[in-house]
Amino acid sequence: MGTIRETATKTFGILTSGGDCPGLNAAIRGVCRAGYDKYNMTILGIVNGYRGLIDGDIRLLTPQDFSGILTSGGTILGASREKPFKSQGSVYDDHFSRDKVEAIKEHYHKFNMDCLVVLGGNGTNTTGYLLSQEGLNVIGLPKTIDNDIVGTDLTFGFHSALAIGTEAIDRLHPTAHSHNRVMIIELMGHKAGWLALYAGLAGGGDVILLPEIPYDIKAIGRHLVRRAQNGKHFSIVVVAEGALSIEEAEMEKKERKRYREQTAVPSIGYRVAHEIEGETGMVAKATVLGYVQRGGIPCASDRVLATSLGAAAADLLAQGEYGRMLGLVHNEIQSVDLSVPAGKVKAVPLDHYMLNTAEAVGTCLGR
Ligand code: F6P
Repeated sequence: MGTIRETATKTFGILTSGGDCPGLNAAIRGVCRAGYDKYNMTILGIVNGYRGLIDGDIRLLTPQDFSGILTSGGTILGASREKPFKSQGSVYDDHFSRDKVEAIKEHYHKFNMDCLVVLGGNGTNTTGYLLSQEGLNVIGLPKTIDNDIVGTDLTFGFHSALAIGTEAIDRLHPTAHSHNRVMIIELMGHKAGWLALYAGLAGGGDVILLPEIPYDIKAIGRHLVRRAQNGKHFSIVVVAEGALSIEEAEMEKKERKRYREQTAVPSIGYRVAHEIEGETGMVAKATVLGYVQRGGIPCASDRVLATSLGAAAADLLAQGEYGRMLGLVHNEIQSVDLSVPAGKVKAVPLDHYMLNTAEAVGTCLGR
């Protein structure tokens, strides 16, 4: 252990919230190791995200807890989708119950926390921001396989999920080719299509459908028929789970929900398969990759990013620079005000170079 440095933060609590992703443990290790070794901070592990903070499920972490976890998947702290500032209608408005927020504040003070470190996606960092407005010191770290957090160019978890998605497409190619089938693969990404776009480009998808670009099934049908006329009797269609048709894009959210309930398919991948069969007469099979994308060990670049963001968070804690989220901006570790990611989603911009790249190499984006 080197010389212990001055620190504004003596004690901090740490939690992981929202869907898990590869790299969470690497980030926990980064914050805790640097916080402990460099600054001799006391570290409190909060169990199951904001749920544990509401319930007071909090325990002291010692070096043994954050040793040997760099490469492991999931989160040693557990996670939940608890969002204390959301009302029953699951929206951020003034109707949320203050009980949960008061319980969080009570436990924060009772455990003598100088700051709360929250590792999570949009919801987690939004909650972090709202807690900072309530007078708590909060530092956020951006994790998600969706890569959709405003204020960072990259989130940890994304590249691991991308590798899994790409490998799945690679594995579908030979079977698509052997059977002359259209293979649809559905990847995660409700509001942003980064994962489908990256994996689709990396895996050579023939069609890529994103939430940002409502699809026209006729355009997709024409593309697949043209491929067949040119001797390619198989195709790979990569669909983000939040993709929607041009007809649906014109509907109100509730109307769209009702419309979807009428079709007896479990998810968009199956629906697109069904629509393609109807449009082209080709055989189309759907694969939904699901939680496999979030599981397993983090890839090397996620380990490096998560560790770097974690270590930088410890420095912010030491400097007493609260109310910030760490991120990677122009290849540098930087921090932004927590209000920057709060309540936002970083969607794929319609002028993004990767969309041009995809179309330049003959990929149909459903338009
Ligand atoms: O937030 C990440 C994410 O992986 C999304 O892409 C997906 O829609 C969601 O989590 C599903 O998570 P869960 O079923 O755990 O709520």
